[in-house]
Amino acid sequence: MTLEDLNLQIYGCKKCRLWQEAKHGVPGEGPLDAKVMIIGQNPGADEDKTGRPFVGRAGKYLTKTLAEYGIKRENVFITNIVKHISPENRKPYPDEVSACLPYLNNQISIIKPKIIVLLGESAKETPRLEGIKYVQIIHPSAAMRFTKMRDRFRIQISELSNLINSTEA
Ligand code: URA
Repeated sequence: MTLEDLNLQIYGCKKCRLWQEAKHGVPGEGPLDAKVMIIGQNPGADEDKTGRPFVGRAGKYLTKTLAEYGIKRENVFITNIVKHISPENRKPYPDEVSACLPYLNNQISIIKPKIIVLLGESAKETPRLEGIKYVQIIHPSAAMRFTKMRDRFRIQISELSNLINSTEA
């Protein structure tokens, strides 16, 4: 299966209730050979409108902080554990996460990242595979809101940058 096949499946997905109120399925984006994959919760309003991941406030904040520590967003594959927006931006329900997980599993096996970065609580459901380093960090939307979390988030991104530089491609 190619990434294009997978994207088409995600655009047309009706495996749970979330497609009903969504404008777009949001598969994710980034290079096929990305060393790093970043996984968030699910698309928000800006992502639903554009069909692209992390383009709203939290996404801009994430992209800017990554760049400050030398991590270029265009080198990273960035996606979410759930590919459709949820009503009132609620946390996806467990059955929605399990319905969507096969897409993420396929993305991981196509891209074969060396490092997977899990943003916040929901992304913790990502299955763990041997040979991949997993890093759990604060979600950028929480980091934007609370000073203490922002400081911690910056430390986590700086540690991530060191890990990327010390991991072979
Ligand atoms: N928050 C997420 O978890 N994912 C997005 O794509 C945007 C905001």
